[in-house]
Amino acid sequence: MVSYKELGLVNTKELFNKAIEGGYAIPAFNFNNLEQMQAIVSAAAETKSPVILQVSSGARKYANQTLLRYLAQGAVEYAKELGTAVPIALHLDHGDTFELCKSCIDMGFSSVMIDGSHHSYEKNVELTAKVVEYAHKYDVTVEGELGVLAGVEDDVVAEHHTYTRPEEVQDFLQKTGVDSLAISIGTSHGANKFKPEQCTRNAEGILVPPSLRFDILEEIEKLTPGFPIVLHGASSVPQDKVALINKYGGALKDAIGIPEDELRRAAASAVCKINIDSDGRLAMTAAIREVFATQPAEFDPRKYLGPARDALKELYMHKIINVLGSANRI
Ligand code: G3H
Ligand code: 13P
Ligand code: ZN
Repeated sequence: MVSYKELGLVNTKELFNKAIEGGYAIPAFNFNNLEQMQAIVSAAAETKSPVILQVSSGARKYANQTLLRYLAQGAVEYAKELGTAVPIALHLDHGDTFELCKSCIDMGFSSVMIDGSHHSYEKNVELTAKVVEYAHKYDVTVEGELGVLAGVEDDVVAEHHTYTRPEEVQDFLQKTGVDSLAISIGTSHGANKFKPEQCTRNAEGILVPPSLRFDILEEIEKLTPGFPIVLHGASSVPQDKVALINKYGGALKDAIGIPEDELRRAAASAVCKINIDSDGRLAMTAAIREVFATQPAEFDPRKYLGPARDALKELYMHKIINVLGSANRI
């Protein structure tokens, strides 16, 4: 058993309390490898932003849970070396079983998500409460989820959103004791969040997707004032990255994300954790494709992973400063 406290990591409690008070959101960026971790930590250190490093089930399969935990431990030291010891949480993204959450808690994660949103309400309550009971013994914070995002989540494909029902929230919080709650208000995972026919065109001819369900968010806020809300599927799918990918041989079609002004509005409310993965994937892929296309004789991985890391860092700094508002909050 390793406590995250010995590793210099923090849980999300204080991060979220401050975020609610300050009207901003903590960035939760997924990582699977060294370059992503370097980009996240250097962006957070340079902007003086707290940050959540997220490990998904897919990341565990790809890179190994133990190695990722050691990378996160290294991240704490790396931030100090960069001159700014930003608070760093290590979070399990979309945990689907008690055993998985327990194994992460036992090896030094400071926060876990138990995503029981695909189960019946009763089963979700039961599973979430069990994880909370175990996690809280070790001062590990727990994120639950109510409502189902459209698209792929935990290998489960949902055709439509099942929006979170505000009337269930209080009961869920009371019965489970979770520290934060992911809700479904129109975001979804991946780079194709909306079909073009769901969007309208603005004066410049740019596709504008339908707005998030801020009415649901506001109702939840009214019923549970000050309780930390989490937004998954919050990538904006930058069109310049999509264009670069397609220019250099990619084939991304109808890639549409959540407009950044909607995320800014959410960050100013009870939403205090915003999950971003796909935008980072796009930034990395665009940079790598550009090197492959423009320098075809290059075969040193550092020559394409390096620019990918730089592009990622720039993207994360932009999110922190201009979208989530978490810069200079340490
Ligand atoms: O919620 C999903 C995250 O983007 C992680 O995706 O399971 O492919 O690592 P992944
Ligand atoms: P995106 O696919 O929109 O980046 O969402 C990531 C996420 O929610 C991770 O849990
Ligand atoms: Zn998610």
